[in-house]
Amino acid sequence: MKQPTTIESPQGKLGVLLPGLGAVATTTIAGVMLVRRGLAKPFGSLTQCGTIRLGKRTDGRVPRIRDFLPLCELGQLDFGGWDIFPDNAFESARKAEVVGQGHLDAVREELAAIGPMAGAFYPEYVKRLSGTHTKPLVSKAEMVEALRADIRGFVAAHGCARAVAIWCGSTEVFIMPSEVHQSVAAFERGLARSDPGISNSQLYAWACIKEGVPFGNGAPNLTVDFPAAWELARERGVPIAGKDFKTGQTLMKTIIAPGLKARMLGVSGWFSTNILGNRDGEVLDDPESFRSKEVSKLGVLEYILQPQVYADLYGRLYHKVRIEYYPPRGDAKEGWDNIDLFGWLGYPMQMKIDFLCRDSILAAPIVLDLALLLDLARRAGLAGIQEWLSFYFKSPMTAPGLYPEHDLFIQLMKLKNTMRWLRGETSITHLGHEYYD
Ligand SMILES: NC(=O)c1ccc[n+]([C@@H]2O[C@H](COP(=O)([O-])OP(=O)(O)OC[C@H]3O[C@@H](n4cnc5c(N)ncnc54)[C@H](O)[C@@H]3O)[C@@H](O)[C@H]2O)c1
Repeated sequence: MKQPTTIESPQGKLGVLLPGLGAVATTTIAGVMLVRRGLAKPFGSLTQCGTIRLGKRTDGRVPRIRDFLPLCELGQLDFGGWDIFPDNAFESARKAEVVGQGHLDAVREELAAIGPMAGAFYPEYVKRLSGTHTKPLVSKAEMVEALRADIRGFVAAHGCARAVAIWCGSTEVFIMPSEVHQSVAAFERGLARSDPGISNSQLYAWACIKEGVPFGNGAPNLTVDFPAAWELARERGVPIAGKDFKTGQTLMKTIIAPGLKARMLGVSGWFSTNILGNRDGEVLDDPESFRSKEVSKLGVLEYILQPQVYADLYGRLYHKVRIEYYPPRGDAKEGWDNIDLFGWLGYPMQMKIDFLCRDSILAAPIVLDLALLLDLARRAGLAGIQEWLSFYFKSPMTAPGLYPEHDLFIQLMKLKNTMRWLRGETSITHLGHEYYD
C-alpha cells in the first residue's frame, strides 16, 4: 500500500450513518452529545483519550492522538440511521436502558430529532424480529438504489461534506460466501434476481460503497467481508473494515490468552458463557444468528495460541462458547470464563473470570473511533480492507490468504504504527539498542 503524501483536511460536517438504531447506536450518539456539552467523558475511546509516542523515548514527544491525526472534531459529527422500528433515538435509548434517564434528559431534544429511515429488511435473515418500519419488499437491486437515495438525501439535507457508516444492526443468520459473492459482476446479477445469499446488511454495505461511504461492520455477519465487496471497495476507493465489535468476553480473551502464551503456560480448556437480556440477546437466542456469533467468538483462541505450532501446550484445547438470553439483565451482561491451564511439569491450575460488564458502554467508543478513523482513511486515500483497524474487531477482516491477528497488543502496535506511517513518522519497534550505544 502506498504511503499517503497528503491527507485531505477534515472540513465540513461528517454524516455518521448507523444502520440499526438500537442499544449500541443510541449509546454512541447520546454519549457524543453528552461529551460535546462537557457533561461526560469519552472513556474507552482511543481517539479521544489516547496518546501516541513519536520518535525516541528520550524525545519527549507524546501528543494526544486527536492532536496528532487530522480527525474530525466531535462537533462536526451529524448522526443518522435506519431501523425497522420507528422509535427515534431518544425513545430507542430509553427502551435500551443503557444510558441513565438524567443523561438522556440532558440531550433529549437533540436525540429525539434523530428519526430512523425505514429499514431494508427481508425477514428471513433475522428471525426473531418483525419490523414495522420497513421499505416495500422490491427486488434487492431496487433496495440498494433506495438505500443509496437515503444516503444522498441525508447528506444533502444535513449539509454534510462526507459520510461514514457503521453497521449497528442485529446479528443475521450464518451465511457462507457463495458464487454470488465472488465478483462485482456476480453480485450485481445476484441483486437483480434477489439471490438468497444476499442479506440485508450486504445491501447497506453495497449501497454505501457505491456512494463512496466508508463502511465498518460491528456484527459477525458477512456484510462487507467477501471478494465482491473487497473488489468494489478498491475500485471505488472506499475503506471497509470488520467484523464484530470486540467488547466484553472476547476483549478479555485477547488480553489474557497472549499473556498465558507469552509465558508458555498450557491451556487444556476454556469454557465461556454469558447471560444477556437486551434485544441483541433475544436475536442471538435464534440458533442461526447464534451460529454467526459463535464462529466469530471461537476463532480467537485458535489464532492466538497456535495449537499447530505448540501442540503440547494447546493441541488438546477444548474451547466452548455459550450465550444465554436472560431478560432480567438487559444490557448488563455477565460473562463467565473458566480456564483450565497447566504449568511446569504439567501441573494443573484454574482461573475464573466473572466480568460484569455493560455491553453497549464497551461498544460505543468503538463505533466513535471507527467512524473517525474510517473517515481519516478515506481522506488519506486508503481503499479496501483496513486491517490496521483489527484492534476493534472480534473477527478481523484480512487480505485473502492472510490469517487474522487477534492479539490485542499486536493489534494496538499495528494501529499506532499505521497512525505514525500516515503522518510520515518512523515506526516504533521497541528494539531500543541505541539507548545503550
Ligand atoms: N454491544 C456489544 O458489546 C456488541 C459487541 C459486538 C457486536 N455487537 C453487535 O452489534 C449489533 C448491535 O447490538 P445492539 O446491542 O445495539 O443490538 P440491538 O438489538 O439493540 O440493536 C440492533 C438494531 O438493529 C435493528 N435492525 C435489525 N435489522 C435491521 C435492518 N435490516 N435495517 C435496519 N435496522 C435493523 C433492530 O431493530 C435493532 O433496533 C448486534 O449485531 C450485536 O451483535 C454488539
